[in-house]
Amino acid sequence: MRLNLKIWRQPDGKTKGKIVDYKLDGVDGDMSFLEMLDVLNEELINKGEEPVAFDHDCREGICGSCSLQINGEPHGPDRLVTTCQLHMRMFNDGDTITIEPFRATAFPVIKDLVVDRSAFDRIQQAGGYISVNTSGNTQDANNIPVRKEDADDSFYAATCIGCGACVAACKNASAMLFTSAKVSQFALLPQGQIEATERVMNMVRQMDLEGFGNCTNTGACEIECPKGISLENIARMNREYLKSSTKG
Ligand code: SF4
Ligand code: FES
Repeated sequence: MRLNLKIWRQPDGKTKGKIVDYKLDGVDGDMSFLEMLDVLNEELINKGEEPVAFDHDCREGICGSCSLQINGEPHGPDRLVTTCQLHMRMFNDGDTITIEPFRATAFPVIKDLVVDRSAFDRIQQAGGYISVNTSGNTQDANNIPVRKEDADDSFYAATCIGCGACVAACKNASAMLFTSAKVSQFALLPQGQIEATERVMNMVRQMDLEGFGNCTNTGACEIECPKGISLENIARMNREYLKSSTKG
């Protein structure tokens, strides 16, 4: 395949960025999207030009590092896959592909396609943990009964990889899907009850402090989420928030 690539180039967070055109030949349908960018970067390096900076780590859909806005969609046109798992067979010979960083005030650009998603880390730090007694008399987790439905819902919420596609997809740049997944994975389990009241308040407060917008029930986040995190988690977080607020 021969592709026309329109790629966002920005040397750093302080300098204005712009879209730059590149032509790339010999792209195979079995390449992943990131492998296609590797080929482009090899060409750029051989020509003595600056390679395109983009985030990646596991390349297996696990770590949540890869984060590209491809033709206006976070993680591109396929469903339930991250950019590293997106294959070039989703595109056709002669296609023009626009590649931009995830856009949100709370995700400032570091360079080219790399954005700073440490706002998510700070939301996690505000409450995404449980207290466990590790003094030697810890109760085995398997001795604590948990309803199968709750265990399943908690597990599904825990599959959120913190990629930020939900924020990039949302017209309000809301982080409610991410935050609600992190609240839900503990709210559904007995082990998560110790900090339940403060957790939801602290995580939502941090989410607001970071400058993410609010949820207006559009649902774009759920559609673009590579892990299929459900909007039900947002409803659960709102219930948890209400419960906590009435406790004072
Ligand atoms: S909810 Fe989905 S889109 Fe949002 S950070 Fe988690 S995995 Fe990524
Ligand atoms: S590089 Fe880890 S999820 Fe894509």
